[in-house]
Amino acid sequence: MSLTKTNPKFVADFVHFEQHVAKLFSHYQWDVETAKPNQVGYDLTVKKNNNFGAVQVKWLNNNVSAPQLLKFIDFLASPQGKKFNCGFFITTKGFGGPALAVIRGLGENSRFFCGVAEENTVKWIRGPEDGANNQENSSEIEQPEKIYFGVFTCKGGVGKTTVAAHLAGALALQGFDIALLDLDPEQNLHKLVGDGVYVPNPGGVGNTIEVFNGKTWNEESARNCKIVICDCSPALERNDESLIKKLHYCIIPTTLNPLGINKHGGVLKKTVEEIRKINQNAHLFILINNHKNIGVNRFKLLRDSFLNVYQDISQTDDKFHCIDPEEVCIRSSDLLYYWGIHLLEDPNNPRSELAFKLIGGRCYPRDDFIRLADYIESKAGLGIFRNS
Ligand SMILES: Nc1ncnc2c1ncn2[C@@H]1O[C@H](COP(=O)(O)OP(=O)(O)OP(=O)(O)O)[C@@H](O)[C@H]1O
Ligand SMILES: [Mg+2]
Repeated sequence: MSLTKTNPKFVADFVHFEQHVAKLFSHYQWDVETAKPNQVGYDLTVKKNNNFGAVQVKWLNNNVSAPQLLKFIDFLASPQGKKFNCGFFITTKGFGGPALAVIRGLGENSRFFCGVAEENTVKWIRGPEDGANNQENSSEIEQPEKIYFGVFTCKGGVGKTTVAAHLAGALALQGFDIALLDLDPEQNLHKLVGDGVYVPNPGGVGNTIEVFNGKTWNEESARNCKIVICDCSPALERNDESLIKKLHYCIIPTTLNPLGINKHGGVLKKTVEEIRKINQNAHLFILINNHKNIGVNRFKLLRDSFLNVYQDISQTDDKFHCIDPEEVCIRSSDLLYYWGIHLLEDPNNPRSELAFKLIGGRCYPRDDFIRLADYIESKAGLGIFRNS
C-alpha cells in the first residue's frame, strides 16, 4: 500500500500538501474532488462505495489544536456538513494534547477520522478500515489578504495580552477565525490560552482562535484566518520588525489615573513615534483599559485631561485615534482579572476559555470588546469586519 511516485515537496506549502493528500486518498481508491475556492468548512470531498466524506487539509508548522478540530466537528454536524457521512482531518505534523483529548472523547461510532499525511501513506491517529485521499489539478487557491492587528505599548502589565485575546474573542463572535500571534518572549498568551479557543456559535458552526508563536508564524498555517492579532512584547525591538510593518491597526492600551495621564501620555507619544518609524500606515488607537466606575464628575475631569494630552498628535497624524473613554473603554472586571484561573483549578483538563461568561445575562468584557471592534470598524474599517 505505498505510492510509487513520491513528492519530496509535498509539505512545502498548502497547495502542494493538499494535492498530496488528494493523491493519497486516490491511492486508497477514493474518488476525490477539490472544494470550490471559497468553500467554507472543508477542502476536499471523497467518495467510496456508500461513504461520502469531507476532508479538512491542515498545513501546519505545529501540532493541530483542539479548536481547529472542534470547528471541523461542528461543521460536520451543521446543516451544510450533514450531507457527509464521514469526515477526515489530515495534517502535516501531529495532534497536540488537547486535540488528542478531543479525539479520545469521540464516540465509538463516530465517523470522524484524523491522521498525519506522510510521504506514502496516512498515519492514522483515528482511522477508517483502510486509507485515505485526490485530485491532480486542484487549482491554486487565492489566499485572501489578512488583516493584521497589533496590541502594543512600551509599558508592561497594562493589559496587552488581555486585550489581544478578548478582541480576538469579539471578532470570533462576529464570525471570523482568528490567528493570535504570541510575539512576547514571556509567552503569556500561550500560558493563558494554550493553543487556542473554540468559540461556539449556537446558530451554526463556531469560530476558532488559534495561537501561534510569532517566531515560526507562517500565513499558510492559518489560511482560514482573515484576521491576525499580535500580542506584542513591551520592548518594541523584541518584536519582529516585519510583523510591525504589516500592521493595519495597532491598539495601545493604557490606564486612566491622575498621575498616570501625563506620565503615560509621554510614554505613549514615544510609543507612537517608535511605531511610526517602522510603520506609517497603521491606524493607531489609544484605548483605556481597566477602567473603574469613579462617578460622573471625577470621570469628566480625567477624561478631559486625557483627551487633551493627545490633541497635538491627533492634529498631525490622521491615522491616530485617541478613543474617547465615554464611547469605548474596557472596564475593570473580575472576569478579566481572574481570567485563566480555570487552568489552575483544573490543570488536567487544559480547556481554554475567554472571560466572556454571561452573569445574569450580561458580560461587561464581552460587551466592551464588541464595542471596541465596532469602533475600529467605524473609524477606520471600510467594511473590514463584514464577513460576507
Ligand atoms: N480590564 C481589566 N480588568 C481587570 N483586570 C485586568 C483588566 N485588564 C487586565 N487586567 C489584569 O491585569 C494584569 C495584566 O494584564 P496583561 O497580562 O494583559 O498585561 P500585559 O500588558 O500583557 O502585560 P505584560 O507586559 O507583562 O505582557 C492581569 O493580571 C490581568 O488579569
Ligand atoms: Mg502580555
